[in-house]
Amino acid sequence: MCGIVGYIGPRNCVPIILEGLRRLEYRGYDSAGIALVKDGVFRVEKKAGKVADLVNHLNQFNGSLSAQLGMGHTRWATHGEPNDVNAHPHCDGEARIAIIHNGIIENYASIKTKLTREGHTFKSATDTEVLAHLIGEMYKRTNDICSAVRLALAEVQGTYGLVVIALNEPDKIIAARRGSPLIIGVGDGENFVASDAAAIVDHTRHVIYLEDGEVAEITASGLRTMTIDDEQIEKEIEEVTFELSQIERGGYDHFMLKEIHEQPDTIMNAMRGRLQVEEGNVVLGGLRDVHDKLMNARRIIITACGTSWHAGLVGEYLFEEVARIPTEVEYASEFRYRNPVITKDDVVFLISQSGETADTLAAGREAKAKGATVLGIVNVVGSSIARESSGGVYVHAGPEIGVASTKAFTSQLTVLSLITLMLARSRNTIDKTHAQVLAREMYAIPEKVKYVLENTTDQIKEIAEEFKRVQNFLYLGRGANFPVALEGALKLKEISYIHAEGYPAAEMKHGPIALIDENMPVVFVVPKDGIYEKVMSNLQEVKARRGRIIAIANEDDTEIDKLADFVVRVPRTYGYFGPIVNIIPLQLLSYYMAVARETNVDQPRNLAKSVTVE
Ligand code: G6P
Repeated sequence: MCGIVGYIGPRNCVPIILEGLRRLEYRGYDSAGIALVKDGVFRVEKKAGKVADLVNHLNQFNGSLSAQLGMGHTRWATHGEPNDVNAHPHCDGEARIAIIHNGIIENYASIKTKLTREGHTFKSATDTEVLAHLIGEMYKRTNDICSAVRLALAEVQGTYGLVVIALNEPDKIIAARRGSPLIIGVGDGENFVASDAAAIVDHTRHVIYLEDGEVAEITASGLRTMTIDDEQIEKEIEEVTFELSQIERGGYDHFMLKEIHEQPDTIMNAMRGRLQVEEGNVVLGGLRDVHDKLMNARRIIITACGTSWHAGLVGEYLFEEVARIPTEVEYASEFRYRNPVITKDDVVFLISQSGETADTLAAGREAKAKGATVLGIVNVVGSSIARESSGGVYVHAGPEIGVASTKAFTSQLTVLSLITLMLARSRNTIDKTHAQVLAREMYAIPEKVKYVLENTTDQIKEIAEEFKRVQNFLYLGRGANFPVALEGALKLKEISYIHAEGYPAAEMKHGPIALIDENMPVVFVVPKDGIYEKVMSNLQEVKARRGRIIAIANEDDTEIDKLADFVVRVPRTYGYFGPIVNIIPLQLLSYYMAVARETNVDQPRNLAKSVTVE
């Protein structure tokens, strides 16, 4: 969701904050702002649009802006449209304090009514400004900004990653967290606060992760952490592991393209040190302590959102068909509110790239409260889901900046395949020879992905040119490639704004077939597997209605050319691992469609990378 960065120390914070905002912009990008304290004066500047618009606006001051205490925010609007006034930071009525906030204050309306009755007037339509006024009220009583924040938060329902500065206390920043990530970057004689390590990794690798319900009072040379009730807490300093180069575009036009091309490496990274090819074994340290629970699981539930949910659907095929464990997949947003039947014999996997998605986190808490063992399949190390799970597996894809998830998806599929192999061996649903074959298949995947990237890109650019003006697309696949169809359709929607639907190929005749005519492109994922012939019948049905067919098919398929208008060839891959290879051309297709339509690939409209609100 929104991005936060703050600084206190001897340096001029303006360039530090603006660079941090630029690095965080993938999290939210409809408006941005900064607040500085200098010589007893507050300076708040904010602008609708991208961080670049804010920078342009600040350029009029000819570099004269400078301060040793400041904070900045890049917003993804929840309450109030994205405009200059609704952008953060927000101040209290007397402009004695300024705040930036990620999350949602759920009871803001009742607080606003009360404050309005007491004479407050509000400039914006945001919940955040209401919180600023509430803190301002508490500040009048306490004259201590840290206590004022704690007292105000005691009255607040909802979620926040919150940073507060006060005019009369220019030697400190207050940070507080509930449901929206915040980290403190520990420097030498200077300190930082950010919603994401990417904002500050230029300056320090030492970070403290705030937990829900914690408040920090940060000065240039130290910090104090406490609960909202003012109980002191000792926090550990941890090390950020990723490299700066991983959050740079590295010569590619877009982060998304870079991330698509990283996949041969990221898939290998997910397997490294875990897959023992010769033995047909898998070792997953993060699951060691819960191995018995997994072995005896009555059922596995996978819950997630968006692309991660699609990975979960492939996981269902893997867990059920190879490891023979009953598995259900649920949207986290639905799961959390429907009082599901869960017992202590259930194992719940939360899949999340960011590890911060509010619905997934809440679903995990719900499952935990009902006694299930909750495990994470997460990319971001140290994220909330990773920390709250009883075990799990990091996917090690490295930072994913493009809003449309690509490399995280294939890494999630790789990890699900590893877990499957481990469980199948432990539960003896496959023998050693079979496991060795599967392990070799897995190990060969990165090369196959590389091959697809090298050999299909030019053709996919041509397909994108051909179809760039259409309004609708249908994606069809069967078995484990049905989720691939869903994911392909989602990718296209997200970044090129073309309406696209994914369906199981055989379901087409129950409705979507009505849409087929010469204007409807249909993408079929049709590898030569056990249901190849069935899917070919579906191709015939589309062809008979003059639909235009783009097929993702295997290299040795000689039948497909008779039916498809375009055939993108991918190497044959063992059935349940096939999605890892088959999704690659669909990622490329959505990317080149978006480029052909000149949309903003890395920051598509209305979306956000990490959705920390409900
Ligand atoms: C957002 C992103 C998607 C992502 C989904 C789940 O909607 O735009 O790309 O798949 O959240 O995110 P997670 O971090 O939990 O995988």
